[in-house]
Amino acid sequence: TNRKQIAIDGPASAGKSTVAKILAEKLGFVYCDTGAMYRSLTLVALNNKVETNQEEALLDLLNGISITFKQMADGQHVFIDDQDVTTQIRGERVTSYVSEVSSFKSVREEMVRRQQKLADKESIIMDGRDVGTVILPDADLKVFLVASVDERAERRFKENKSKGMTVDFSGIKADIIRRDEYDMTRKNSPLTQANDAILVDTTGLSIAEVVLEIEKLAKRNF
Ligand code: C5P
Repeated sequence: TNRKQIAIDGPASAGKSTVAKILAEKLGFVYCDTGAMYRSLTLVALNNKVETNQEEALLDLLNGISITFKQMADGQHVFIDDQDVTTQIRGERVTSYVSEVSSFKSVREEMVRRQQKLADKESIIMDGRDVGTVILPDADLKVFLVASVDERAERRFKENKSKGMTVDFSGIKADIIRRDEYDMTRKNSPLTQANDAILVDTTGLSIAEVVLEIEKLAKRNF
């Protein structure tokens, strides 16, 4: 087939979704933000007072909801059933519980099943933690995006501030470090660079420069 797959993985706030969105638009690919799916489940758990350490209860919740992406005038929105949760899933509470929710095997298996189904239909660019290693092991291009922790915290600080969120630099930095540590050391599909992924260090690079770099890699790999 002519369908293409690009996998972008890396630690928190490395700019994965920002560049993936731009690339998807440029290339005419579907964009799937796998982190948004875990965030959505986390939001449902918190709203339903389901403990985020209860694997079976979380899986039950997941099996009862659909998580979809819809292209709207101002970009891609995330829906749980027919509820737009695009903004809510970025909140501090969701962010602090999402790694625990993401650590369970059965939850991940169901997410991966849904993610692979999305990739079945069209050319896709997907970002997350296990795209190159688990979801799309045969992707045409795999990128592992990294940046120094200070730069990542700085970017997230500015992004949150521009959204009108209350921001605290040291809190953001501490959360990034905590989440990376949790994601890299968990038992089920931990965050790791796939053997055939290309490392791109974005420290000191602009968004446009990172996009250009990945476009070059795509041309070489397709
Ligand atoms: O990408 P984002 O920061 O929104 O992801 C939130 C969290 O979801 C990550 O810190 C990680 O715990 C989890 N996640 C995951 N696997 C993915 C994507 C996200 O475990 N493919």
